[in-house]
Amino acid sequence: MVNIAVFVSGGGTNLQALIDAQTAGTIENGKITLVVSSNPNAYALERAAKVGIETAVLRRRDFDSADAYGDALDALLTEKGVGLVVLAGFMTVLSDDFCKKYENRIINVHPSLIPSFCGEGFYGLRVHEAALAKGVKVSGATVHFVSEVVDGGAIIAQKAVAVENGDTPETLQKRIMEQAEWMLLPQAVSDFCAGRLQVENDIVTIR
Ligand code: GAR
Repeated sequence: MVNIAVFVSGGGTNLQALIDAQTAGTIENGKITLVVSSNPNAYALERAAKVGIETAVLRRRDFDSADAYGDALDALLTEKGVGLVVLAGFMTVLSDDFCKKYENRIINVHPSLIPSFCGEGFYGLRVHEAALAKGVKVSGATVHFVSEVVDGGAIIAQKAVAVENGDTPETLQKRIMEQAEWMLLPQAVSDFCAGRLQVENDIVTIR
């Protein structure tokens, strides 16, 4: 059984999708044992507490450097025997050392079709603002492994979602969550825990 830690910063709808999948029994061979928030006021913490999942708050600003923050996270994960980290709306960039140590063991969900609208500065509603400003007709979501390059790790799964006339960043965000993120992320986590993800030369194959 793989112990899963979910890192969050905000509302936690993707965390909720993972909790719901766990309740439904569709996360094979994995269990969410810890939720770590970078924000003490994140509603995601309440979602975890409601179902009895242990939580911890580690704020980046309480540490002198990204390395010190990464070391504290690492110490917590080691103590809890965590085998998979899931970034579910986690808005803090992790240190290079942390990413290297957990290579191919951190999964992130990003609300666009990478390599469009990704990288530093592209997070949350900003991604959808940029997509609408460009006038793309299709956007979507990507689930990928995390490397030292922001949003640059190997892609596990993607799903396209149509942009509609009159979309605002908020309506597009909601449609992409409902039609893509909330399905892709639990499926990828289940595939990881069941040992179905194979990574070779930065290319993921789902067996
Ligand atoms: C989600 O749309 C997620 O893809 C995005 O933030 C939102 C978090 O919502 N993540 C990023 O932009 C990371 N670069 P949630 O807290 O309700 O899951």
